[in-house]
Amino acid sequence: MASATTVCPHCGGTGWRIHEKGGLSGAERCDCFKVQRAERLVEASGIPANYAKASFENFIHFHHDQQQATKLVDAFKASYDFAERFPHRTDKPGLLFVGPTGAGKTHLAVAVMRRLMQKGFEALFFGYQELLENLKSSYDPAYGAALRESYQRALECEVLVLDDLGAYRVTDWVLDTVTHLITVRCNERRPVIATTNLVESRADLGRRTASGETDTRYLLGERIGERARSRVMEMCTVIRMHGVSDYRERPSAR
Ligand SMILES: Nc1ncnc2c1ncn2[C@@H]1O[C@H](COP(=O)(O)OP(=O)(O)OP(=O)(O)O)[C@@H](O)[C@H]1O
Ligand SMILES: [Mg+2]
Ligand SMILES: [Zn+2]
Repeated sequence: MASATTVCPHCGGTGWRIHEKGGLSGAERCDCFKVQRAERLVEASGIPANYAKASFENFIHFHHDQQQATKLVDAFKASYDFAERFPHRTDKPGLLFVGPTGAGKTHLAVAVMRRLMQKGFEALFFGYQELLENLKSSYDPAYGAALRESYQRALECEVLVLDDLGAYRVTDWVLDTVTHLITVRCNERRPVIATTNLVESRADLGRRTASGETDTRYLLGERIGERARSRVMEMCTVIRMHGVSDYRERPSAR
């Protein structure tokens, strides 16, 4: 592909490289095409400015506390392997990051989507709350169409990153909407990468957090409904980051 200022010396700007093999010639995509496609995907991905740099390269797994260090390494490895092996034909097609605030869930979710975009897949980042609020405003005819389109994109994109799943006031409409979104994607086996700091089971509710307080968060099933929860679990490998302290408060963080 040609850009306005530089023409690729390998393909002359066509985006294709011609090669000869055994008297036959074939064409394959030039690397410059792949790089430019990845750049376009990142531009359209909706990654928030706070995470513009979040990647595997700058995820720190060092921690003074050995147990927390192990959890960080495990979460990193599981995310990294998922991204490397993507697309998954047989395994679960998605990921769910579960853990307390500041554990690094969104950072790792963005790192995964970045790698997938490098591989040429389209990945879109949506905050759960924002997605629902936009969809709600879309019922207002004054600015409905564009916002409904964004929900449509969340339904249809190759990889959906859904940040802070369940972090919104529960109403019947919210439960119906999230069930619809998850069910459609699940039926089509379209990957979802979600993060949440809700808890998975009642037994976890009494657990003490890294800062020593008793967990008072809600159950995932209560916030998104049992049907959506069950499909998310069916579709996603769960990466648990319980007990990892808030990165912003780690003495070694900066
Ligand atoms: N291990 C890490 N190495 C480098 N930066 C990190 C790490 N963990 C978190 N961060 C950074 O700390 C900030 C908070 O992390 P992040 O937003 O990923 O937490 P979270 O688990 O998604 O929290 P929340 O539940 O509040 O959304 C981000 O700026 C992130 O880039
Ligand atoms: Mg987050
Ligand atoms: Zn080229």
